[in-house]
Amino acid sequence: MKRPLAYIAGTGRGLPATVMTNFDFAKIGIETTDEWITDRTGIKQRYIAKTESATDLAAAASRRAMEKAGITAGELDVIVLGTASPDRLLPSAAVDLQAALGAGRAAAFDIGAACAGFIYGVTVAEALMCTGNAETALVVGVEKLSAITDWTDRSTCVLFGDGAGAAVLKRSKQHRGILSTFIRSDGSLGDLLCRPGGGAREPFSQNVLDTRSQYIKMNGREVFKNAVRSMSEASARALDAAKLTGTDIDLMIPHQANIRIIESTAKYANIPMDKVFVDVDKYGNTSAASIPIALDEAIEQGRAGEGSLVLLVGFGAGFTWGSMVVRL
Ligand code: UT7
Repeated sequence: MKRPLAYIAGTGRGLPATVMTNFDFAKIGIETTDEWITDRTGIKQRYIAKTESATDLAAAASRRAMEKAGITAGELDVIVLGTASPDRLLPSAAVDLQAALGAGRAAAFDIGAACAGFIYGVTVAEALMCTGNAETALVVGVEKLSAITDWTDRSTCVLFGDGAGAAVLKRSKQHRGILSTFIRSDGSLGDLLCRPGGGAREPFSQNVLDTRSQYIKMNGREVFKNAVRSMSEASARALDAAKLTGTDIDLMIPHQANIRIIESTAKYANIPMDKVFVDVDKYGNTSAASIPIALDEAIEQGRAGEGSLVLLVGFGAGFTWGSMVVRL
């Protein structure tokens, strides 16, 4: 097992004030039921940002993570931010966060890896620390998916939620830290989960608005199959690289998209469900934010703490997927 170079020194989460339950969809004319959503996804409620921006959520999560890590914003060398729903298209969400935090000496940039954004972000931040470009890094996953969700499409609007999660990485001095990382992508499957309109290929126009192509489009069944396959592969690869098996793991924290995907992935990784952290019921799918929110909650609840071996695994649009083993 390699000697870790970076460890997670603090985590935090930031959530909007407004909760939307499965029963609230009736109020906006969506033909669905609590029973359908619960059975198919495990989701009971999600947080929706009515007044908060993505930057507000990211800043709240980051401040908590920095406080727990015992650092100030001025000590950050790099901010790596995963998102699919930035407040504005230019400049990056990471520099907006940098300004909000006052992290004056950091380099800040976004990662476009959708729901795998946090795993990708930690991998890149760790690499920058390995090459001597950073001593202290902030990795953030943030989404305001409610802004890019088609609220007339019942097959997607019941799934997503808003929120942010953050982690501060510091250079490891002992055995604590990131033991292995694995990331992959397959762009040939990009159309299965995408926002086709409003980008450079089809800039905003009346046609984009008429066809609602600025919103998330998803082939749920295909995404589901690929998610299980890829998250299982990623878990196995990260465990192998750390010379561990599922039975060594204290807690698995998978991307929270759907309870059925989580259960299948855990089964393939040979990890019983009592060692799997689930909060999809509370937050829905918060994409890049889901893993760091779950990690923060798991630590807060005492499900994981200093010394715990944790397996993080994610999958999202792209497709992108990845996993890592961390000694907290
Ligand atoms: O973060 C990574 C990205 N996203 C995901 O991981 C999501 C992956 N996919 C999924 O989680 C599942 O595919 C869904 C939860 C999206 C859908 O579950 P499913 O079991 O694959 O359902 P389905 O799409 O095959 O639809 C079954 C039926 C359809 O009706 P018919 O054609 O069988 O009559 C849908 O029209 O359920 C209907 N349906 C709904 N019914 C009530 C679709 N959405 C709803 C809804 N309420 N909200």
